[in-house]
Amino acid sequence: MVQYTKQRDVDKSVIAAVKASVDAFGAKREEMIPILNEINKRLGYIPPDALDEVSKLLKAPKSQLHSVASFYRMLATKPRGRHVIQFCESAPCHVVGGKEVWEELQSQVNLKSGETSPDGKWTLLTTSCLGVCAVGPVMTIDDNIYGNITPDQIQSILAHYE
Ligand code: FES
Repeated sequence: MVQYTKQRDVDKSVIAAVKASVDAFGAKREEMIPILNEINKRLGYIPPDALDEVSKLLKAPKSQLHSVASFYRMLATKPRGRHVIQFCESAPCHVVGGKEVWEELQSQVNLKSGETSPDGKWTLLTTSCLGVCAVGPVMTIDDNIYGNITPDQIQSILAHYE
């Protein structure tokens, strides 16, 4: 029998997301990553209350869950913007103009790596190789991949997003 924290303590949407995620994969420690990933998908990030709930249900230390949630770039422990930009900072992209593109990108969104814009529109992240080095410099915005980017293309790429 799985016991969830009463609603008075934790936001209802958090409880619902944790319940659905644990139900989907089972309350097993070895399913920790898929469960956290599912919560992340449902809520957009993994709030501290969700980590508490998962900790109880999987009987896993919260510190371990927090380490996992912080380690994987696909998971977020803070709210992210509506659009997440990931810019490849690995050497093959860097040497074909990535540095200039990165500087222009930071300037256009007025953010540094790891930051989210005050209006909640953008989160800017760096990432290691995305596996498409042949078309570097490369970045992704949400599920879209952009390759062979030049600094003068940044503005028009960003304009595709509301
Ligand atoms: S180094 Fe950038 S995609 Fe591989």
